[in-house]
Amino acid sequence: MTKVNVLFVCLGNICRSPMAEAVMRHQVKEAGLDGVIEVDSAGTGDWHIGHPPHEGTRKQLDAHRISYEGMKARLVNDNDFGQFDYIVCMDNNNIRDVRALLERSEVKREERKELFTFMELLPERGFADVPDPYYSGNFDYVYELVEAGCRQLLTKIKTDLSL
Ligand code: 4NP
Repeated sequence: MTKVNVLFVCLGNICRSPMAEAVMRHQVKEAGLDGVIEVDSAGTGDWHIGHPPHEGTRKQLDAHRISYEGMKARLVNDNDFGQFDYIVCMDNNNIRDVRALLERSEVKREERKELFTFMELLPERGFADVPDPYYSGNFDYVYELVEAGCRQLLTKIKTDLSL
C-alpha cells in the first residue's frame, strides 16, 4: 500500500504541532492505518530544539490518554520538503516561513507536495490560525480544534488514497 508522510509545523514545536502530531498518530492507529500514514512535527523557530512538548500540551494529551513518548522539538529543514506529502502549518506566519524556506530549497516545483494551513481543514470555524496557547494558555480550546482538524485530515488522506 502507498505510504504517506504528514508533517505539522508551528513556531516553537512545543505546543500546537506536537499536539497535532500526537493526536493524529493516535487517530491513525485507531483507524488501523499505522504503517500507512506516518506523522511528525517541526518548528520554524529554534528556541526549544530538543525539548519535550510544553506542559500544557502534555496535560491535554495525558487527559486524553494519548502518547507523546520520545517527542522532541526540532527545526523544519529542506529534507522535509522532499520527504513529506502533506505539510500542515498551524498558522499563517508558519506557512509564510515554510514557503520562504521552500523557495530557497533545492526541491523542484513539480516535486512539491500539499502545503496548507490547519484551519483550512475546518473552514466552518471561519478563522485562519490555530491560536498559540504559548501566549493564551488556552490549551483546552486548542486541543478541541486539533482533535477536529485531525479527523478532517484523516478523512482527506483516506479519500486521496482511495481508502
Ligand atoms: P508553538 O508555541 O508554536 O505552538 O509551539 C510557541 C512556543 C514557543 C514560543 C512561541 C510559540 N516561543 O516564543 O518560545
